[in-house]
Amino acid sequence: MSLNDEDLIKQARHAQQNAYAPYSQFKVGAAIVTEKGKVFTGCNVENSTFGATSCAERNAVYCAICAGAQDFTKIAIVTDSEEPVMPCGICRQVLYEFNPDIEIISVSTSGKTDRIHLSEILPKGFLLEKQR
Ligand code: THU
Repeated sequence: MSLNDEDLIKQARHAQQNAYAPYSQFKVGAAIVTEKGKVFTGCNVENSTFGATSCAERNAVYCAICAGAQDFTKIAIVTDSEEPVMPCGICRQVLYEFNPDIEIISVSTSGKTDRIHLSEILPKGFLLEKQR
């Protein structure tokens, strides 16, 4: 694992500490990095209505977009589960919008790490033609 990845994972772990997960107790942290090496983090934010819950990955993407960054290359996800988790379907589609082949690194409590590219877990995402 390169130093860069370790740093990205560390930032995801930091964000995980702020997760608001009183219903599931499943705290997730994410850190997404751009081509220029800028990192944006997110944690899951749950809601009493459940449906309004937003995942760590999506929140990291939205945080980056708000700051004017879009050229994502990699996202690290950390959880306290025994096995590394993969992003949910909605987050896959949100990531697809900006990089259909973004690298995903997911780390479990024990440090078990899964690496995958988005195209492997969402091969044919939906994209509208951009009107610019
Ligand atoms: N969750 C994430 O934040 N990311 C994932 O990849 C999987 C699920 C959150 C949503 C919810 O707050 C909790 O984990 C349980 O589903």
